[in-house]
Amino acid sequence: MKISVKRENGFVEYGVELKETTLLEVLNFVKQTQDNSLSFSSGCRSGVCGSCSMRVNEREVLACTYKVKDGDVIEPLRNVTLIRDLVVDMDKSYTFNAKSKSWLSSLNSDARLTSEDEKINEVQSDCILCGSCYSACPVYSVNEEFLGPFALTRVWKYVSDKRELDASEKIETIQTNGVWDCTLCNECTIVCPQNISSKADIEKLRVKSTIAGYSDPSFSNSFGGGFGFDGTPSF
Ligand code: FES
Repeated sequence: MKISVKRENGFVEYGVELKETTLLEVLNFVKQTQDNSLSFSSGCRSGVCGSCSMRVNEREVLACTYKVKDGDVIEPLRNVTLIRDLVVDMDKSYTFNAKSKSWLSSLNSDARLTSEDEKINEVQSDCILCGSCYSACPVYSVNEEFLGPFALTRVWKYVSDKRELDASEKIETIQTNGVWDCTLCNECTIVCPQNISSKADIEKLRVKSTIAGYSDPSFSNSFGGGFGFDGTPSF
């Protein structure tokens, strides 16, 4: 079996005799037996820590759970800073969490979450920070400051949390480079190893935004004003 790995000076092909195994095991085998300089990240080896995310045949996968096939083409994640070979720096994507204020900002200490309440945003809590959604998102090719699927899913988690007394600041923050910049293409959802639908979360945030009086600025610009949510006739 042969695989191609993108490295600093282009693709390098490696031949291995392993079959029915994960990509991470193949990369470890190559590093131990053929090329000690090959760089990649890994941790738990069981799909939990998210550190081994990379692209195979132009699709984001976790190397520790993906069953490698002959001819696979391996590349690092996109939309992040490349450090070396398949190792990337995720810092920029993490800063979007801070920008989007994705935390409980005004806590209602009297509110108690029931098991039903916990189910509302249980899936969003399963994120393993692998960065696959950022890599798959096409918006970054035109807007590098887009808050992105990961941060917006976290915003939804806290906006929908009944312990949050005032979500208005979070809703305001996501109006710029946020909910209206998403194309709803669903690529983030397709690649998420935890089956989190950031697209659905962004759609729910759009509804919250509309209720709060905001509207899609691209519509506002097209028609010379808002849709009347602010009480101003726009036609
Ligand atoms: Fe932890 Fe792959 S090594 S998710």
